[in-house]
Amino acid sequence: MKDPIIQTPRCCLFPFEETDLRDAASFLQDPEVMYAWERTFTDEEILQSIRDCKQEQSRNGFSIMMARHRDTHEPIGRAGVRKDALHGKPVIEIAYMLAKRFWGQGYATELADACINFAFQTLKEDIVYAEVRPTNKASIAVLHRLGMKPDKPAIKIYGGIPMAMLTFTITRQDYFANKDPLRK
Ligand SMILES: CC(C)(COP(=O)(O)OP(=O)(O)OC[C@H]1O[C@@H](n2cnc3c(N)ncnc32)[C@H](O)[C@@H]1OP(=O)(O)O)[C@@H](O)C(=O)NCCC(=O)NCCS
Repeated sequence: MKDPIIQTPRCCLFPFEETDLRDAASFLQDPEVMYAWERTFTDEEILQSIRDCKQEQSRNGFSIMMARHRDTHEPIGRAGVRKDALHGKPVIEIAYMLAKRFWGQGYATELADACINFAFQTLKEDIVYAEVRPTNKASIAVLHRLGMKPDKPAIKIYGGIPMAMLTFTITRQDYFANKDPLRK
C-alpha cells in the first residue's frame, strides 16, 4: 500500500487503486449511502471512477481518495479534493462519503477538515468550495460545523440528471482565524 496523502487523528487517505473495488463497493453500492445520487454504482462504474481518481492524482497531485482507519485499515469511505466548475468558473472542492457504520462518529467532519487544510496548506488555495443536495441535512451540518458559508445555489448534471445543489465556501482567512496560529 502506498503512503497516505493525508492523515487525521483516526484516518488515512490513500490514492485509489483498482484493488479498492470491493471496499469502495461497500459504500458506493449501499442505497442508503447513495440516496443523494438517487442510484448506486455498478462494479464497472466504480472501476471507472477509481481510474478517474488515479488519473487526477497523477495529473494534479490530489484527488478523491480511499479513507481507511489509521489502525485497522478498515474502509471508512472516500474523501478528498478535486477540481470542478461552479458558477461558470474553475474551483477547488472538497467531497466526502462514509460507509454507514461510520456515520455519527465525527469521521466526516474530521476528514473534510483535513481536506480543507490540505487545500490551503499544500495547494495554497485561497478559497475552498463544497456542494451538497438541499435535502442532505447530515452533510449540510458537516459543512456548518467546519465554518463553511452558503454561496449561490447551482444546477449540476450527474449521470445525465440535472440536480439542484447548494454550494458552500470557506476562505483561508476564515479557516485559520479559528485555528492554532502555528498552523497558518
Ligand atoms: C454526509 C455524511 C458524510 C455525514 O456523516 P455524519 O456521520 O453525519 O457526520 P460526521 O461523521 O461528521 O459525524 C457527526 C456526528 O457525529 C457526532 N460525533 C460523535 N463523535 C464525534 C467526534 N469525535 N467528533 C465529532 N463529532 C462526533 C456529532 O455529534 C454528530 O452527530 P449529530 O449529527 O447527531 O450532531 C454521511 O451522512 C454520508 O456519507 N452520507 C452519504 C454520502 C453523502 O451524502 N456525502 C456528502 C455529499 S455532499
